[in-house]
Amino acid sequence: MNLIFMGPPGAGKGTQARRIAEKYAIPQLSTGDMLRAAVKAGTPVGLQAKAAMESGGLVTDAIVVGIIGDRIAEADCANGFILDGFPRTVAQAEALDGMLRERNLHIDHVIDITADDEALVARITGRRTCGKCGEGYHIQFKKPASPEACDHCGGALVTRADDTEETVRNRLSVYHAQTAPVLNFYRGKGGIETVDGMQEMNTVFGALCAIIG
Ligand code: AP5
Ligand code: MG
Ligand code: ZN
Repeated sequence: MNLIFMGPPGAGKGTQARRIAEKYAIPQLSTGDMLRAAVKAGTPVGLQAKAAMESGGLVTDAIVVGIIGDRIAEADCANGFILDGFPRTVAQAEALDGMLRERNLHIDHVIDITADDEALVARITGRRTCGKCGEGYHIQFKKPASPEACDHCGGALVTRADDTEETVRNRLSVYHAQTAPVLNFYRGKGGIETVDGMQEMNTVFGALCAIIG
């Protein structure tokens, strides 16, 4: 089962990919998470990616295509994977096509999680993430029992460096200019399926499960 979750920043790609990964026992491949880990570790990729991420721009296609190419070759992807935040440009989608063809793989579902820009700003500025286990929270929509600690592991909750209102607006305009065209790329191939990401989180999860089967 190979899936692509598309959608603007804050639509719920990460929230839902995490749950789908658990239910279907396939890994969530988030280029954003991988890049943040690289920045934190100070690797060469992290050093190259840092400035673009901080401004809300895109990291180069060469870097993210390289990361995903290495990642889908790993053993835990043998039964499938969920791409979360990749591909984000038509060039990335074309590169992914080539990688899949080489491995004789195909994408089962391209799912677009939609949401309104104004709601997205509120979602992103209220997001908190556990620094230890990665669980996601929201100060209003998915409140942790304590504002500073993860319900599951007690880890400290952190705010992403790129989750300021100004950066979010830039990420949204980058999404409309560079990532929305990727939807047309897939519409011209096997087609895409759409889930209304403005619904309550469990409703969105149910809609995704109904598509995936
Ligand atoms: P990335 O980490 O992918 O960020 P993004 O696309 O901006 O998306 P988000 O992670 O912000 O949103 P999400 O859809 O995962 O929302 P979430 O589920 O957390 O990328 C970061 C940066 O890395 C990019 O800007 C770029 O620089 C670089 N990058 C990454 N991939 C790249 C690529 N392929 N090419 C080039 N550069 C790349 O939900 C958000 C909040 O809302 C949470 O608090 C959650 O609890 C809440 N929420 C979720 N669903 C609901 C709901 N239904 N109702 C109410 N609240 C909800
Ligand atoms: Mg995410
Ligand atoms: Zn945790």
